[in-house]
Amino acid sequence: MEILGISGSHRKGNSEILVKKALEVCREKGYKSEFISLAGLDIGYYGSEKNDIESILDAMVRAEAIIIGSPTYFASVSGKLKSLFDWSLLLRKGYKLSGKLGGAIAVGGSRNGGQEFVTMQIHNWMLLHEMIVVSDKNTAHFGGIAVGKNPGDVLKDDIGIKTVENLAVNIIEALERRQ
Ligand SMILES: Cc1cc2nc3c(=O)[nH]c(=O)nc-3n(C[C@H](O)[C@H](O)[C@H](O)COP(=O)(O)O)c2cc1C
Repeated sequence: MEILGISGSHRKGNSEILVKKALEVCREKGYKSEFISLAGLDIGYYGSEKNDIESILDAMVRAEAIIIGSPTYFASVSGKLKSLFDWSLLLRKGYKLSGKLGGAIAVGGSRNGGQEFVTMQIHNWMLLHEMIVVSDKNTAHFGGIAVGKNPGDVLKDDIGIKTVENLAVNIIEALERRQ
């Protein structure tokens, strides 16, 4: 079973660090993982040239669980991630993501910068695909929520890292309950 992690940032920054941290926990529990960063990929917008989008959609269909991390931009997901969400309309025909587990990670430069709204947007996207939304084990809120401005800052946010690890733990436990 494969767990896919997607970083929705345009740069190799905090979202990438956090998504990779979640995947590391999944691998420690014996699961395969795949990581996709939208940084450097040509996503365009729904209806534009497809370019890099098809391989990402294929990876989503292959995965058993999908963990999505995004920077908080004006209390919303990044524009790049929103474009990916729009493109995923192509998977809604036939509900190709139906029943997959999903978890959200958000990072923002401020303590109360809108990370919870970002996780909610990611969760809404998952719900519209008939996915099953998973929270973080024990800390049990909205998934991984961290604070950091410059790349690497999140490594100092112990509580944020813990929520990311706990999200991965809950996804693994949910996968195991289904077997
Ligand atoms: C255009 C823009 C808007 C931002 N808006 C917010 C915001 O609303 N709340 C917040 O806490 N941080 C905000 N930030 C800070 C980023 O969320 C923060 O730098 C984060 O670590 C970026 O993630 P990344 O390193 O994965 O790119 C914003 C940054 C940019 C560039």
